Amino acid sequence: MKGLGLWGGLVVAMLVVFGCGMPKSSSLDNSSAAPVKAEAQAAAPAAAEAVAQGPQVFAPGSFDNPKNCAGCHRDIHDAWSKSMHAYAWENKWYQADFQMAHKETEGATDMLCGPCHAPIAARTGQLPPADGSKFDETSRQGISCDFCHTVTGVAQVFNMGHVSEPGNVKRGPRGDGESLYHEVTYSDIHTKAEFCGSCHMVVHPANGVHIIDTYEDWKNNDYGKQGITCQNCHMTPTPGVAPTPGRSAGMGKLRDSIAFHGFVGGSSYIQDELGNKEQAERSREMLRAAAQLKVAPKVDAEGNLELTVDVHNVGAGHKIPTGTTYIRKMWLQVEVMDSAGKLVYASGQVDDKNHVDPNATFFRLLFRDKDGQLTGKSWRAQGIGYDRRIPAKGKDTEVYRIKLPAKGDYTVSTRLMYRSFSQATLDDIHQRTGEAVPPVVSVEMAKAQSAVKF
Ligand code: HEC
Ligand code: HEC
Ligand code: HEC
Ligand code: HEC
Ligand code: HEC
Repeated sequence: MKGLGLWGGLVVAMLVVFGCGMPKSSSLDNSSAAPVKAEAQAAAPAAAEAVAQGPQVFAPGSFDNPKNCAGCHRDIHDAWSKSMHAYAWENKWYQADFQMAHKETEGATDMLCGPCHAPIAARTGQLPPADGSKFDETSRQGISCDFCHTVTGVAQVFNMGHVSEPGNVKRGPRGDGESLYHEVTYSDIHTKAEFCGSCHMVVHPANGVHIIDTYEDWKNNDYGKQGITCQNCHMTPTPGVAPTPGRSAGMGKLRDSIAFHGFVGGSSYIQDELGNKEQAERSREMLRAAAQLKVAPKVDAEGNLELTVDVHNVGAGHKIPTGTTYIRKMWLQVEVMDSAGKLVYASGQVDDKNHVDPNATFFRLLFRDKDGQLTGKSWRAQGIGYDRRIPAKGKDTEVYRIKLPAKGDYTVSTRLMYRSFSQATLDDIHQRTGEAVPPVVSVEMAKAQSAVKF
């Protein structure tokens, strides 16, 4: 009971103390988020409702090390070990944000972030301290097999409301298999989006701002209404719903389709840095499967080009971008060239410091802090400051008005670009920690070209 209420209160207190604007270095990239579109955030479930259950604590060692599952479930272990779930605690991009939150709130966020990013540590009393010094080997491996497969229910579909029952019974989508190592029980919740939504829905405990809204967004759109789940798209190795026949364990039964455990999302930049080339490529495929561009150019007698760009979300079961969209970035890059190949107009270009043109059209979300400043620091969020994302099966339109310099033929290219981080966030990590952070790499999600005559 006290868990959520307690840190909720602490966060309120810390916001009063630390709720100043964000440092210049990150506001640079973030201020690109031009007009404030969405003002106040519809009130989320009240903090009181958040207190659905007290934190569960088990003895250290209660959850099995994923290595102990690898012998029989080799392919699943391979795929999982390259998923972002396996790196959810240790990856340096997460650690930088977590440690900054820890510092700025004097530890109030430790047991907010921790239960999602290091659930086993949080449930075996190894967190805090925030530096991870009490973590055993199992805890360090992020969100692993035995955490997910000993879940018996979900008490609240946000802020990690999973109910754990660690032990010999492993719960999954079938229940008819036989294993020498453990018992097997059918679990309905593992086949449901709520199982994922309990973590993929983050609500600020002090003020109800939706920090991550993937689950609620899905629940209210066509995919949610038709019951096309997160598992349908994210537990298959390729974009879309593709069956993958096989066995989930050496001695297991032959099945029509085995759940893929790579949990592919947009993190190709991190995956490349970690040396997981195949997973990085899957991630790029996923990004490309999400969007399409359509362009309609119109030129008048004076050479005024009116370029209408439609961005369609054709493949994602939620808005694009989704998740930590306050860290990620999606934008339009537009170029107009004359017949000699000379650039006569550009928007959304990347400069020599790897920063995106601040006047580009951005699709992302940013918070508003207590001074009304835009911020990407989730713990300082007081509301939504900017929200422009493309809804599932929907589109967003941007119109560019460009003066063509002379009579002739022109080529218009538009590209929808994606980054896992803004370069300003990475610059800031380097500045604060001294760590070498490789420059972020852009991924082209979609493109469209068109010829124009004046
Ligand atoms: C000695 C081999 C062995 C080990 C070790 C092992 N398993 Fe299994 N497991 C199996 C077999 C065999 C099946 C049945 C597969 C089938 O027939 O589809 C199974 C099934 C499962 C299922 C599917 C349940 C269902 O009905 O949907 C889950 C989940 C599972 N194991 C989790 C784990 C976890 C977590 C670990 C490590 C803590 C682990 N297993 C270790 C052999 C093993
Ligand atoms: C983030 C939570 C999560 C993690 C981590 C995870 N699983 Fe799963 N696993 C699931 C879900 C959910 C399903 C059911 C998917 C479905 O119904 O499509 C599943 C399915 C399975 C199945 C049944 C596959 C089939 O299609 O018959 C086995 C076996 C299994 N997991 C073992 C493991 C092992 C071993 C690990 C670690 C190497 C692991 N899981 C890690 C969530 C997880
Ligand atoms: C215990 C909490 C938890 C559960 C349960 C969970 N996730 Fe995640 N998931 C996370 C966290 C935390 C990350 C981010 C890890 C990181 O990037 O550091 C993540 C990342 C992801 C990503 C992004 C990968 C990328 O490449 O960017 C996908 C996709 C994903 N999860 C899908 C799922 C699906 C589908 C389920 C349900 C079957 C699920 N998750 C269940 C916490 C969870
Ligand atoms: C119809 C297929 C589909 C469904 C259903 C779906 N997703 Fe996705 N998801 C995608 C595609 C395609 C992408 C890649 C585009 C992107 O990254 O924004 C993606 C991206 C993601 C990402 C990475 C976002 C980022 O850029 O960091 C996460 C996390 C995620 N999905 C979680 C979920 C969860 C949780 C659910 C269920 C509530 C879900 N997805 C349902 C297709 C789907
Ligand atoms: C309710 C679960 C939950 C809580 C609480 C939570 N996160 Fe996350 N976090 C996620 C999920 C899910 C993702 C993946 C979303 C995506 O891929 O876009 C994520 C992704 C991230 C990422 C991006 C990591 C990467 O590898 O790209 C950072 C950074 C992050 N979280 C920091 C934090 C911090 C700091 C806190 C505490 C103030 C926190 N999170 C609290 C669920 C949670």
